Amino acid sequence: MKIGRVTISDRAAAGLYADQSGPEIERRLRAIFGPEASFVAVVIPDELDRVAGVLRQLADQDRCDLIVTTGGTGVAPRDITPEATRSVLDRELPGFGELMRMRSYDQGVRTAVLSRAVAGARGSTLIVNLPGKPRAVAECIGYLEDALVEAVSLLHGQDPHDAPPMAQR
Ligand code: MTE
Repeated sequence: MKIGRVTISDRAAAGLYADQSGPEIERRLRAIFGPEASFVAVVIPDELDRVAGVLRQLADQDRCDLIVTTGGTGVAPRDITPEATRSVLDRELPGFGELMRMRSYDQGVRTAVLSRAVAGARGSTLIVNLPGKPRAVAECIGYLEDALVEAVSLLHGQDPHDAPPMAQR
């Protein structure tokens, strides 16, 4: 199981603050996919071509099973993560964003609707956007856990109900 985690933030990329959201992705996904999961970590600024290029590299060359991004999903002028992600997807999975926004709102995050996070497949790689705050990362991975596991298995042509867990592959 190989996972790309991509922090998309002008300020984190410039070293103006420490990236806490990328490590949070890794902690949460390790708990789901197990100690065998390996991670590729990237921190990049909010630039559409660079984000799309990194997503393509992680999917096509590094052959990640899953790529999770954090940041840049909102409506600030520099937020381009959804556009960059959509530009590399073969098929979109709108339910991931819908579930994140709905559950976050239900749990009291009144601004959850401001995230335009998208998800989908590029070949057999699942790509999922998350909002930028470390707490949002933790919350949203919790909401998406079952869907992440099932989608990764299905994209590899496995029936998740009778295949060994991805962590053992
Ligand atoms: N979802 C959860 N679960 N927790 C949060 O704190 N923050 C919201 C929203 N979704 C938030 C959340 C806010 S304030 C914004 S602006 C959007 O995500 C977009 O965040 P981003 O631009 O950092 O991706």
